[in-house]
Amino acid sequence: MSAIQYYTTQSNLCKIWGLESAASKFEEEAKEEFDHASRLINFMLKLGLTASTTQLKSIPKTRTLKEILIVDWQLEKDVVELYSDASQYCLNSGLIHGYELFNALLEEEKHHLKSIEKWMLELN
Ligand SMILES: [Fe+2]
Repeated sequence: MSAIQYYTTQSNLCKIWGLESAASKFEEEAKEEFDHASRLINFMLKLGLTASTTQLKSIPKTRTLKEILIVDWQLEKDVVELYSDASQYCLNSGLIHGYELFNALLEEEKHHLKSIEKWMLELN
């Protein structure tokens, strides 16, 4: 949910700055993160849990596209570590459905992290 908020905010910031291409990319990122959130909520509901977020991460102030990408790189790096831990925990605990979900999300976020790194290189 924090990632959705990050990317939606950044998409709108880029629109304000006249960076339409970047705005579209962030809008796509928000949609991908929405899909991830939906899959996680679905997983929790099947376990009989209520999906509720108690606190979203605050969005650091950014004034340039480069600053946005630095913030996003850290966000995605943290998510990769979180999903890596979660998939390993599920694997060790014999929770195969959890492992499958978190491992799939891990692979998608690793790809996402690489695409941010590529974008940062292109900006430099
Ligand atoms: Fe992501």
